[in-house]
Amino acid sequence: MSNSTNEDSSYGVSDSSYIAAGKEVGLRKLCSDFYTLMDTLPEAKLIREMHKDNLNLMTDKLTLFLSMWLGGPRTYLDKYGSTNMPKAHSSFVINEAERDAWLLCMDKAVEQQSFRKEFKDYLKKQFRFPAEMIRKTSRYS
Ligand code: HEM
Repeated sequence: MSNSTNEDSSYGVSDSSYIAAGKEVGLRKLCSDFYTLMDTLPEAKLIREMHKDNLNLMTDKLTLFLSMWLGGPRTYLDKYGSTNMPKAHSSFVINEAERDAWLLCMDKAVEQQSFRKEFKDYLKKQFRFPAEMIRKTSRYS
């Protein structure tokens, strides 16, 4: 059967997810919307407070991190050096509530994009893996 709807499995191949997300411009908009939601949703207050007042640096870091994570350019490494997600989050208390608040902002941000529905569903599902990994490795969990 042909795969005209681009099922889950094809987004993980090479840079197809990076392309589906609209490359760096698309990811920058996603991350900017994500932090705007974190900044405004009452449900996100508990994680907004962990972040600095100015979210511009985090918007850039998350944009470039996601580019790499979705198979695109590895600019993050040149600009910010190597990355270790558990270590980067180790000084924060991240339990179920914090994980779910992060995912809520990301789900809503993904929904605001002009991505295909299949890609939105795929992406929302994929974010659950690093979010859960970060919760599990949080030393307070
Ligand atoms: C599970 C819930 C999560 C919470 C509560 C959380 C919270 C945070 C906080 C408070 C910071 C530091 C912000 C600062 O320095 O101003 C941070 C950094 C970061 N987070 Fe998360 N995060 C979560 C999940 C994720 C996920 C799932 C990803 C990736 C898909 C991610 C990617 C990053 C990146 C790339 C950085 C920058 C790391 C660095 O500076 O070395 N985070 N996060």
